[in-house]
Amino acid sequence: MPERVRRFPFPFPHDQYMYSVNVEPARRLNPTAGGGWGDRVVEVDEFYLRDISARRVVLDRDPSRAAQMPHMRPGVWGALHHLLGELATTYPEQMSYERTGDRCHWVNRLQQLDLSFNVGDDKGVPGGPLRFVSSQIQEDFALLDHREDALWLDAGVVTFAADWSLGFDVGLPFREIHGPVPRAAAMGVVERAEQFMINLQPGDPYRRTNWTMTVDRRLDTSTETYPEWAQDRSLVGGDPALPDRLHLRVEVQHLIKVPTTGSLLFLIRTHLLSLRELATVPAWRARFGEVLRTLPDDLAQYKGIARYKDAAADWLLEG
Ligand code: HEM
Repeated sequence: MPERVRRFPFPFPHDQYMYSVNVEPARRLNPTAGGGWGDRVVEVDEFYLRDISARRVVLDRDPSRAAQMPHMRPGVWGALHHLLGELATTYPEQMSYERTGDRCHWVNRLQQLDLSFNVGDDKGVPGGPLRFVSSQIQEDFALLDHREDALWLDAGVVTFAADWSLGFDVGLPFREIHGPVPRAAAMGVVERAEQFMINLQPGDPYRRTNWTMTVDRRLDTSTETYPEWAQDRSLVGGDPALPDRLHLRVEVQHLIKVPTTGSLLFLIRTHLLSLRELATVPAWRARFGEVLRTLPDDLAQYKGIARYKDAAADWLLEG
């Protein structure tokens, strides 16, 4: 079985799905019927160079996918330092990171990159610190600032959003960002999630998953490119290629309080697996089929999968 199947973060512990504050400590391997995932915070896989290059194309076309409030400069440098360290510890053969005082040396052999720079020197890293981080990790990321007893989305690079827009949400409080999510506020999920994140201990990462579905292996389903991908959602239900075109889209989201700055770093890693590949693990096939069959209409509408989810469930449960 290919690694993208074995390490796929299959997110459903039950036949029915509902929102919850589904957080758990990071860095622990979660066994699944196909293998397991979750032993690392940042993950480099077979799509690394392809995804990094896709992100660069998106950013060149639409720079608003990277955003930073002026007061977040130290927070961004703190995130850069933390993430390069995390990459080097996780992939010591391919990457190394040394820091003495403010002097840093970063090597990324996957990109033939050998770079020395000083912390705080924005011109010392290609594109500035925000874009530079996003050129080294496969994950999208957001940085949240804690003030007035709330969390505010004040910086980030999100090129692979699942039907939302960083440019729209930047500068907004966490609770307002979750305003469009059905049921979540009324269930207390949003308030509890925020309190949980405020109480995180520095350097003690947690994680959660979120999911939706996407037509084709398209990472950029941001609000900004809606006209490019929305029509596929109407047509795919009747397409004989449905099992190859429809993908389960899972986000592994890490929540980290950066020790040096106290900002909350939110990493979003998107994994896509076609129904055809997912069905090679029979337990996943049956479970996801049930989840889709029983998914409440308001959740299906919100996720944008209402038009094809029954066709997907039929294929999974009857195949
Ligand atoms: C424990 C932490 C969190 C929980 C429990 C949580 C929960 C959720 C849920 C249930 C959804 C709906 C997803 C769906 O049905 O597909 C959602 C959407 C979303 N979440 Fe979170 N979330 C958390 C952390 C965060 C953080 C830190 C951010 C940072 C920016 C964030 C940004 C978003 C955005 C932008 C959406 C889409 C909203 C829209 O439709 O405009 N979430 N979240």
